[in-house]
Amino acid sequence: MDIKKVFDNNRSWIERQLKTDEHYFENLAQGQSPEILYIGCSDSRVTAEELMGIAPGEAVVHRNIANMVPNTDLNVMSVINYAVSHLKVKHVVVCGHYNCGGVKAAMQQTDLGILNPWLRNIRDVYRTHRNELNAITDGAVRYNRLVELNVQEQCINVIKTAEVQKAAQERGVTVHGWIFDIQSGKLIDLNIDFEKVTKGIVDIYRIDTE
Ligand code: CO
Repeated sequence: MDIKKVFDNNRSWIERQLKTDEHYFENLAQGQSPEILYIGCSDSRVTAEELMGIAPGEAVVHRNIANMVPNTDLNVMSVINYAVSHLKVKHVVVCGHYNCGGVKAAMQQTDLGILNPWLRNIRDVYRTHRNELNAITDGAVRYNRLVELNVQEQCINVIKTAEVQKAAQERGVTVHGWIFDIQSGKLIDLNIDFEKVTKGIVDIYRIDTE
């Protein structure tokens, strides 16, 4: 691909937008009030706005390898803080995807250098759910299940943050765990029962906020 093509694409995109609304960019420049915070994978096949069919301004997007929410990652923690406490989004979504290379790498023993500590967070998810995962004999099914459980655990990491706990209490912010199925293009809601999956651990992570 000729990288210059990107700028041609940009010019025709501007034309298309202005054709439907001549004030499109003026309005966009006024500010943002998105309702969704989307945390997804950096994978080039898994876009954010496109797969949700939404426009610029409708979602705050954070993407990293394997849609992780590590407790000490200043990047994702800052995005959550800004989106929830300042932009006041109504929904926080963690969206994983089948065929995720990050999750696959965490199931293998290859030394990947700087990626090792990042992927270790996924190995921790495996360890937490090892009884269920080890009982699955089909490797492909086990891989898919780890993708799903990783989404669940990253949602729990979102819930551990003080700002999400506060926003949930004050204005009913909700957390959602989704999977994008690359094979079909389908977005799947895992319908995670957070009361069930956080049973017995809620008090450990509760932060009292005024
Ligand atoms: Co991925």
